[in-house]
Amino acid sequence: MTQPKDTRFMDTIVSLCKRRGFVFQASEIYGGIGNTYDYGPLGVELKRRVKEAWWTRMVTLRDDMVGLDSAIIQNPKTWETSGHVAGFTDPMVDCKKCKGRFRADKLADASCPERPSKRPGECGGELTEARAFNLMFKTNVGAVEGAGSIAYLRPETAQGIFLNFKNVLESSRQTPPFGIAQIGKSFRNEITPGNFVFRTREFEQAEMEFFIPPAQNDQWYEYWRKERHSWYTDFGIDPTKLRMREHAKDELAHYSTGCTDVEYEYPFGWGELEGIACRTDFDLKRHSEASGKDLRYFDPETKEKYFPWVIEPAAGVDRTALTFLIDAYDEEEVEGEKRVVLHLHPEIAPVTVGVLPLVKKEGMPEKAHAIESELRRARLTTFYDESAAIGRRYRRLDEVGTPFCVTIDGDTMKDDSVTVRHRDTMLQDRVKRAELVPFLQEAIRGWKRPVKKG
Ligand code: GLY
Repeated sequence: MTQPKDTRFMDTIVSLCKRRGFVFQASEIYGGIGNTYDYGPLGVELKRRVKEAWWTRMVTLRDDMVGLDSAIIQNPKTWETSGHVAGFTDPMVDCKKCKGRFRADKLADASCPERPSKRPGECGGELTEARAFNLMFKTNVGAVEGAGSIAYLRPETAQGIFLNFKNVLESSRQTPPFGIAQIGKSFRNEITPGNFVFRTREFEQAEMEFFIPPAQNDQWYEYWRKERHSWYTDFGIDPTKLRMREHAKDELAHYSTGCTDVEYEYPFGWGELEGIACRTDFDLKRHSEASGKDLRYFDPETKEKYFPWVIEPAAGVDRTALTFLIDAYDEEEVEGEKRVVLHLHPEIAPVTVGVLPLVKKEGMPEKAHAIESELRRARLTTFYDESAAIGRRYRRLDEVGTPFCVTIDGDTMKDDSVTVRHRDTMLQDRVKRAELVPFLQEAIRGWKRPVKKG
């Protein structure tokens, strides 16, 4: 695979996303709103696939995991107890001249809004002393606004899991070690969001809290570090662009005694895809004390009551989807023309099969629609296209990562066979219509990431 090496690579991805309907700027017709994005038809499918791949591996295929979907707005005591009201802050400075606001610990990466080629303060303005800025979005619940009605949009999905620990324990027959998984939106009023959907104020998380006997902390921490790394590589992410970075003590969140970030080498540098944290019994213990409800687990074998410790793999769904796009992107020369192709894993690609009648006549469109309908009934996502020359149609589907195209031609009308064209190799197979679904299912199962060329 060959990717552009220059800094314009991110611009290429952003432009592809807009042009092909993956990601649009939110409220674009009103000039947008602070680094917020909407997902278009292909983007929503990509993100859905990413979440499905996560959920299948984390929940469906395991017997020690259950799911949860907790509310975005919880009782505000949740966030006092979890430490977010007091401690979920970034240090912020203001420029007294241009009124720009910056993270004090990221000044070297920021630019002056008045003079974008300059660093903060280089517009001639003086920077204020750093002060703590809380990242939680405040809102009011109910018709009366006032101190008593203040609530927060959740800054992490994790707390909803801790609040429901006892409910799940009592209703699901799970016992430690076991996990509760959740996918959902979280909100952080970041001082400086950026890098497209990598850091946004509204974002989706895929989090899991794994509750364990305290003595098993090290073994499960190691297990989840390995498991989460292989999830990315199994779905085709280039292992040479991934690293596991252990946090230094002064980087650890207030609840954590150890944390490893799964990081990816983006065109803008290394960035966190996911954090795997040891949260000990911090959250259950604090919620137990603050609520007066006993959140300990009683082990019937040892007759011991204890607060389980927690290992938490917490991934960002939007940045994972972005990573799949960046990592899959490839440009190559084919017959004197540039071919842009996304080598996405077939289970991540937003469309699995393009269905293409060779020409718009001789009964081929009708037959193609019938075949498309069979593929859809087999739960394969399809895209029907009858416009333009066949080569152009292949290229358009390559550019959005469609792994297979099924072409209906003159022979199909005679012997009910079709051509299956493979995105990565551009090779073709002739397949009987009756064998098409199992053929494609086998090709999905057997997919391998193409070897890198440069
Ligand atoms: N729950 C960890 C995080 O939100 O990053």
